[in-house]
Amino acid sequence: MALQLLPSTLSVPKKGSSLGAAAKETASFVGVSRKAPLSLAVRTRVATAPPPVSTPAQGATTSSPGAKKTLRQGVVVITGASSGLGLAAAKALSETGKWHVVMACRDFLKASKAAKSAGMATGSYTVMHLDLASLDSVRQFVEHFRRTGMPLDALVCNAAIYRPTASTPTFTADGVEMSVGVNHLGHFLLARLLMDDLKSSDYPSRRLVIVGSITGNDNTLAGNVPPKADLGDLRGLAGGLSGSSSGSAMIDGSASFDGAKAYKDSKVCNMLTMQEFHRRYHEETGITFASLYPGCIATTGLFREHVPLFRALFPAFQRFITKGFVSEAESGKRLAQVVAEPSLTKSGVYWSWNKDSASFENQLSKEASDPEKARKVWELSEKLVGLA
Ligand SMILES: NC(=O)c1ccc[n+]([C@@H]2O[C@H](COP(=O)([O-])OP(=O)(O)OC[C@H]3O[C@@H](n4cnc5c(N)ncnc54)[C@H](OP(=O)(O)O)[C@@H]3O)[C@@H](O)[C@H]2O)c1
Repeated sequence: MALQLLPSTLSVPKKGSSLGAAAKETASFVGVSRKAPLSLAVRTRVATAPPPVSTPAQGATTSSPGAKKTLRQGVVVITGASSGLGLAAAKALSETGKWHVVMACRDFLKASKAAKSAGMATGSYTVMHLDLASLDSVRQFVEHFRRTGMPLDALVCNAAIYRPTASTPTFTADGVEMSVGVNHLGHFLLARLLMDDLKSSDYPSRRLVIVGSITGNDNTLAGNVPPKADLGDLRGLAGGLSGSSSGSAMIDGSASFDGAKAYKDSKVCNMLTMQEFHRRYHEETGITFASLYPGCIATTGLFREHVPLFRALFPAFQRFITKGFVSEAESGKRLAQVVAEPSLTKSGVYWSWNKDSASFENQLSKEASDPEKARKVWELSEKLVGLA
């Protein structure tokens, strides 16, 4: 059984678009690496995808007399599993039969339909409502998840919004700029709250995966396309990203808003957060913390707010010009590897894949691997989500 709280956040319509921005952003997603080789909820409804998991709540192995001990089914929570990378990874993991997938999504019906049309077997997944644009919704999700009695063996922070043409900010239910609010702060609170659940899991390899992006790394060609990610001295984040007369909506404190940069900055926060989790918790808990760049998945809904010409040309540009195109199915397999592959247990790593689809440990940019900045982002984020 799954619980749904209908979307609790109002989003201001997007503004502004230009072909120039389209060209710029086409380049910024080329995906070339130098290293190559209840809240405000208005209604509550209980809804289900499949019946409860066939996962023993305790005991990493199951056995019957005379039978060999087998690893129990793992339980993975994936945010933003209603489309794109998240859906493809949910499908890949559920198809193995080794994982039960909790699809943590803001649009319950969309997620249910997506799971069905992707051919995910009934019983292999549960859809639960989570709106990362509301900290109350995040807290409620954690409560509801715990009430299901399922263990938590892996958490994937995947959901994101990207507002490449926006020149004015929109805000979460908590009054924080939307890109950083959803992509970073919502996930930060979720991961912090669910650490206790991950810690108490008896699964042999527990993992927390935070999806990163090449666009936040200025040690790549893609990451050098303006506007470049730059968190500056974090004065905007310290001010709460409220965009009010006294505060900026940008992490670096800039007076003007740039939707493309806000997204890239949020991905830097994602990658810094993964490393800070690693430093603070890996040794003590044995949990594996990882991030990844799944490749340029040019067909996903991430680009929905882009200008039509960009959306029309981008997949072909990636497929034939940069050759950086990765299908949703392939990207889903990559994310599934980071969740489940026994060979990818190293913690603190940012994974990428080469042209033969072989995984390798990639280098993060100077800013995205700066431990002092990671510590500051962690501490400021704790304040903004009410943990400090
Ligand atoms: N596409 C690429 O080329 C690419 C490259 C590098 C990294 N990535 C990363 O991959 C991840 C997935 O992106 P994608 O390309 O698969 O895009 P996508 O298809 O648009 O998926 C994004 C998901 O996030 C969900 N989401 C958005 N706002 C949310 C909120 N407030 N609360 C809960 N869920 C929310 C969306 O839900 P709805 O379905 O309800 O909209 C959707 O399920 C992101 O972290 C992105 O940064 C993508």
